[in-house]
Amino acid sequence: MTTRAYIFDAYGTLFDVHAAIARYRDRAGPDADRISELWRTKQLEYSWTLTAMGRYENFERLTERSLDFALARFGRSDPALRAALLDSYRKLDAYPDAKAALGTLKQAGAVTGILSNGSPGMLQAAVDNAALGGMLDHVLSVDALGFYKPRNEVYALVTDAASVRPEEIVFVSSNRWDIAGAANFGFKPVWVNRANLPDEYPDLKPVAVINSLSALPSLKF
Ligand code: 2OP
Repeated sequence: MTTRAYIFDAYGTLFDVHAAIARYRDRAGPDADRISELWRTKQLEYSWTLTAMGRYENFERLTERSLDFALARFGRSDPALRAALLDSYRKLDAYPDAKAALGTLKQAGAVTGILSNGSPGMLQAAVDNAALGGMLDHVLSVDALGFYKPRNEVYALVTDAASVRPEEIVFVSSNRWDIAGAANFGFKPVWVNRANLPDEYPDLKPVAVINSLSALPSLKF
């Protein structure tokens, strides 16, 4: 089956979620990295628990609440730091390999896009800040549905928007749970295992595992 579109997860795949706290490491204190890890873990936990309960709050709210928990857990509940970190999260650095990989795919004539839990405003801010807008044909947010990945309906936003079949789409994510969801839906998932983590979800495998987006354009599916 040919590949007609390359669709990317946003946070952790194109944008470095830990870039936010890296800018305020001194103010965050010695637990900066643990705060950032807990912030991400709770952000995702809330998306999964609300979806399982059939409830919804947008990802901007979940990002705020998860940061509040992480700061409180490490005794850093400082309103000015909170505001700075949330502003920084809207302007995350793109990974160095992201822009080059998107550019190469676009030069090769591929359709490209983002499929993310992020709210439309968050995604637009991140895409604009990283100057990726000209390289993306679609920026799709779960906000249109009112529930989160890995629900099948979320991945169907892509097949609906791009008018392609699941097996014609390469879906790229650093989040192994997102790769499982993409495999469950029928995409060709490529796992960007930047941190060289052990594999999981043995029944829902990627078609390829890479450790940098620079390896993506040369892969043949
Ligand atoms: C996403 O961007 C949360 O990384 C996940 O959808």
